[in-house]
Amino acid sequence: MDFPVFHLDFFGNRWLIATIAILHVLVNHGLAVGMMPLVAAMEWYGQKKQDPRWDRLAYKILFFCFLITTTIGALTGVGIWLSVSLVNPYSIASLIRVFFWAWFTEWLVFITEVCLILAYTLTWKKWSNQGPEKKKQHIRLGFALAFFSWVTMAIIVAILGFMMDPGNWLTDHSFWTGVMNPLYIPQLAFRTPLAAAMAGIIALFLILFFTKRQDGFRHEALRAVALWTLAFAPFVLAAGWWYYTSVPDAMKDNLGVSLATLAFADWQTKFLQIAVVTVVTILLVVQFAISRPNLLPKVALVVPFFAILWMTGHFERVREFIRKPYVIGQYMYANGMRVDDYALLQRDGVLTYATYSNPLTEAEKAGLPERLSEPERTARLETIQKGKDVFMDTCSRCHTGHGVNSITSHLQRMFGDKPWTPELTAGYIEGMHYAQPYMPPFPGSKAELQLLGAYLEHLQHNKAPIPGAQSAGVIVHDENAGRIATKTNQTEAAAR
Ligand code: HEC
Repeated sequence: MDFPVFHLDFFGNRWLIATIAILHVLVNHGLAVGMMPLVAAMEWYGQKKQDPRWDRLAYKILFFCFLITTTIGALTGVGIWLSVSLVNPYSIASLIRVFFWAWFTEWLVFITEVCLILAYTLTWKKWSNQGPEKKKQHIRLGFALAFFSWVTMAIIVAILGFMMDPGNWLTDHSFWTGVMNPLYIPQLAFRTPLAAAMAGIIALFLILFFTKRQDGFRHEALRAVALWTLAFAPFVLAAGWWYYTSVPDAMKDNLGVSLATLAFADWQTKFLQIAVVTVVTILLVVQFAISRPNLLPKVALVVPFFAILWMTGHFERVREFIRKPYVIGQYMYANGMRVDDYALLQRDGVLTYATYSNPLTEAEKAGLPERLSEPERTARLETIQKGKDVFMDTCSRCHTGHGVNSITSHLQRMFGDKPWTPELTAGYIEGMHYAQPYMPPFPGSKAELQLLGAYLEHLQHNKAPIPGAQSAGVIVHDENAGRIATKTNQTEAAAR
C-alpha cells in the first residue's frame, strides 16, 4: 500500500522476525536481565566471604555475557527493528507514533546500559586491587547495570502487552493508558523471575566449564546458584499463572469466534503443560545440584537449559498466536490495515490506495492458456497483475505463493486438481475470517475479490517464486501516494 512489499517467498516473512526476535529474547533475558544481578550478587558474596574464587568465577561469567550481549544481543536488537520495518512497516510506524517517548527513554536507558557494562567489565580487575572501598563501588556499579538491564526490558514489555491488547487506549488514545495496558504488569511479573531463573540455569552450565571437577569450590558454586534458581521458580509459576489467567479475560471479547477460543484454549493448555514440565525438570536438576553436586554430570544440565529455552520460545509463540488476526489488538490487522480504514477500503478497493505495484516477472507470466489472441493475452496479464497486487497487499504478510504456509498448498488441500476458478475461491475468501479466525476479513472490494480469484487460478499453473520488491522492484502510482498513511498519521497524531 504505502510501502513497497518486502517478501520472502520460501520461508515466509514471519520466520525472519521470529528467528531474530526469539534469539534476542533468549540473550536479553538469560544473559543480561537475569544474569547481571546474579553476577553482581556473586561479586558481593565473594567480597563478603573474602573468597577470591567467587570473584574469579563472576568475572568469567560476566566476560562471557559481555561478549555475547554486545555482539549477538546488540545485532539481533537492531535486527528486530530492521526485520519488522521491512515486513510490517505499518505496525511499527503506529507503535512509534504512540510510544515515541517510551522508545526515546528506552534509547537513553540502553545507551546507559551499554556504558555500564563496558565500565563494569573493564574496571573489574583494576578496582578490585584498589582496596575494599573501591571494590564496594564496583559492586554498586554491577547492581546499577542490573537495574538498567531490567528497565530496558520493562519498557519494551509495555509495548508487547499493548500489541496484544491495547485496552482502553482504543477509546482514549492516551500514552499512559497504552503503557498500562491490561497485560503489561502480569507479563512483566512473569518475565522478570523467568529471566532470573534462566540466568541461574545458564550459570550452572557455565560453572562446569569455568571450574575444575576436583575443586571443592565447584560444588559450593553449583549449590549457591541452584538455590538462586530455586528461589525464583515459585515466582515463575505464580506469575505465569497470573499471566495465563489475565490473558483469556482480556481476549474473550476480541475472539468472538468459538473456533479461535477453542484453538486458543488448546494452546493455553499446551503452554501450561510445557511450563509445568519445564519447572519440574528444573527443580529436579537443581535439587540434585544442591544435594549431590559432585555427582552432577554436565549432560544433566543440558536438560533444564533446553527446557527453559523451549518454554520461552513457546511463550513467545503463544503471545504471537493470541494476537491474530491483529498485529495491534483490535486496532490494526496483521496485513497492516487499520480496522477503521476497512469500510473505506472495502468500498473503494485497496488498489485505489496502493502506491506500489509488484510487477510480474517473465517466469510469473508463464502458464497462460494456449490459443489466446494477443489482445486477450494482454488483458489477461493485466488482470493477473492486479490480482497479484491484491494478493501482495492483503495476503502476503502471512502467506507465501509456494513456500511455508503457502496459499497454493491450502487451495490444493481444499479444492484439489479442480480448476481454482474465482467462483470457487472468491466465496471462501469473502468469509475467510469466519472459517479461520486467525485471518483478518478481506479488506478489498468485490471487484478485487474477482481479481484475486483470477490470480489464484493462475498460480495453479504457475509455480514460479513470487519475488518481493527487494528483488523485482516496483511500479509507482504517484496518484495514490500516501493517502492512507496521511490519514493514519493524522488520527494518531491528533490522538496523542
Ligand atoms: C494474519 C495472517 C493471515 C493473513 C493476512 C491471511 N491469512 Fe490465510 N491463513 C492464515 C493462517 C494462520 C492460516 C491457517 C494455517 C494452518 O492452519 O495451517 C490460513 C489459512 C488459509 C487458507 C486455508 C483455510 C482452511 O480452511 O484450511 C486459505 C485458503 C487462506 N488462508 C487464504 C488467504 C487469502 C486468500 C488471504 C488474503 C486475502 C489470506 N489467507 C490472508 C493467516 C493469514
